[in-house]
Amino acid sequence: MSKRYTITAALPYTNGPIHIGHLAGVYVPADIFARYKRLTGNDVAFICGSDEHGVPITIKAKKEGVTPQDIVDKYHAIIKKSFIDFGITFDNYSRTSAKIHHDTAQEFFKTLNDKGEFIEEVTEQLYDEEANQFLADRFVTGTCPKCGNEEAYGDQCESCGSSLNATDLINPKSAITGNVPTLKETKHWFLPLDKHEAFLREWILKGHKKDWKPNVYGQVKSWLDDGLRPRAVTRDLDWGIPVPAPGGEGKVLYVWFDAPIGYISATKEWAEREGKDWEPYWKDEDTKLVHFIGKDNIVFHCIIFPSMLKAEGSYILPDNVPANEFLNLEGNKLSTSKNWAVWLPDYLEDFPNQQDVLRYALTANAPESKDNDFTWKDFQARNNNELVAIFGNFINRVVVLTNKYYEGVVPEAGEFSDIDNDTLAAIKAYPAVIESSIERYRFREASQELMNLARLGNKYLADEEPWKLIKTDEVRTKTIMFVALQIASALATLSEPFLPFTSTKLKGILNVDDNSWSDISTKNILLSADHKIGKGELLFSKIEDKTIEMQLEKLETSKKENEAANKEIEPQKDTITFDDFTMLDLRVGTILEAEKMPKTKKLLILKVDTGIDTRTIVSGIAESFTPEEVVGKQVTVLVNLAPRALRGVESEGMILMTETPNGKLVFVNPDTAVKNGSQIS
Ligand code: MF3
Ligand code: ZN
Repeated sequence: MSKRYTITAALPYTNGPIHIGHLAGVYVPADIFARYKRLTGNDVAFICGSDEHGVPITIKAKKEGVTPQDIVDKYHAIIKKSFIDFGITFDNYSRTSAKIHHDTAQEFFKTLNDKGEFIEEVTEQLYDEEANQFLADRFVTGTCPKCGNEEAYGDQCESCGSSLNATDLINPKSAITGNVPTLKETKHWFLPLDKHEAFLREWILKGHKKDWKPNVYGQVKSWLDDGLRPRAVTRDLDWGIPVPAPGGEGKVLYVWFDAPIGYISATKEWAEREGKDWEPYWKDEDTKLVHFIGKDNIVFHCIIFPSMLKAEGSYILPDNVPANEFLNLEGNKLSTSKNWAVWLPDYLEDFPNQQDVLRYALTANAPESKDNDFTWKDFQARNNNELVAIFGNFINRVVVLTNKYYEGVVPEAGEFSDIDNDTLAAIKAYPAVIESSIERYRFREASQELMNLARLGNKYLADEEPWKLIKTDEVRTKTIMFVALQIASALATLSEPFLPFTSTKLKGILNVDDNSWSDISTKNILLSADHKIGKGELLFSKIEDKTIEMQLEKLETSKKENEAANKEIEPQKDTITFDDFTMLDLRVGTILEAEKMPKTKKLLILKVDTGIDTRTIVSGIAESFTPEEVVGKQVTVLVNLAPRALRGVESEGMILMTETPNGKLVFVNPDTAVKNGSQIS
């Protein structure tokens, strides 16, 4: 039966591009669900947008010396483009800096305020005296009172998932100055979550929410069991939506108060554009509201936002919140700041037109019930062993043989054998099988069922061997090819939610696009005799080892850069006097000759013109330079260092070096050429 669906995907923070973790955890499953719901004839609003407020954006803006608006403008465009590139079919991709959103969020706040749903209270909040600023959320870090993680934020501990108030942190530290905050009084509006606890218990624990994913249900239950407390929904910041109430001057709405309302404003914006009424999508009890999110968003979507909606009074509540766990990358946590990620724009540059390969690899290995690891090897295997060897191979055989034997015209079938009948019946069963997985939000299982249909096709051809029979039994061959073409046609339709680009291509090749999802299980014939198909075209191509190795090397570089960046700065050495310093005789010299010290990895034997003389210096730089590279370079030499023998070669001095962030040694030298022998003082 046709239904109305409001499907939301978490609004991404607009402080960087998006990576495979976002795609796997939220956007690909949400898109599969939305496409599937549309294909099966439902009325769908698939909603998302950029989350443009919040502390990390202001921190980034400060660091780069630009305005927060500059940051969000830049990344909103990049993120929006990635979603289009990867075939994520949002009906609207909005942004929280839009006027319609500011208006909607303020109106929502006012309604709750007028209804007396907030507590206004002056409390002591953390304050950074040097920065002249209150500290909340990501502006403050400290030790989590629940699990002891020393890097918890003022709003949340990413280690145990607890949602926190900044004042809960043990040993809080300002993220702006590093100072220990003081306490200062300020007024805020609080949403009394405790007041909604009974309702939440009833709705989630006793209600029908037992069918929510165990990871979601479990987290929510543990929060409810811990007891809920009032939570501030305003902040003393200047980037955000102004608080629309007396006494709210200089204050903004808490980003987690405004962002989920973004789902509503984006729906309004879409409805206005389409000439529709937005309200049924949010207020009609028959509408199913589904939030796709990552696990760190569970508390906000299952406890706080529902409490807001309930307090407002006219909204429906989510039917389901199918949160995913996290995706790791090659064994390590994905991290924007550590550049440990596969960014979508980079992926497309390296794998042009291969969006479906990534969509498939991420779905087949989605972190649905536990954290999962993305590895390039697995990505390659999913492509080569499944997309190329099974799906692509089957389609290619069918299309090539149909063109070869029948000039692309679907042949008339003769009498069906038992195997043919079983195969045709099996096709009809697939929509229900895939559907049952999707309805339970098991997208990896669903994607494997789709692949099983291609497997069935491959096996059918391998068993029936039309390429042999063509020589002896034309009628039988026609029947086999007819059946195989029905499988190909079913694949064209059923693959759409998972492999949308491939599905479009395949429909083009088969020259059909008129089968709906339910046709696959109801129609006896999907491609009738005499229908003309097009020429073959490769759907997938093999990914070679060297391509994968290049990706692994990229990650290796990130890792090295991180290690260097995180290297502790050495503490300062003991004080020396000026006289001590003048004892060092530092000169500029030029390297005249260089050769490798035999049987060593690190050492070069250099001849250096020091201006005083030409002397031999043994230097440990061979891993950073070839001998040819250093000849002719001006360098700084400590010339009065006592000589010492290294591997039997007398070294008379030392060359001054430092290290780049990725561990390469570099010379410390004058920035313009000077005379050899010039003193450094
Ligand atoms: N920006 C948040 C994140 O990336 C998600 C916001 S979801 C919304 O974790 F509900 F607030 F919109
Ligand atoms: Zn914790």
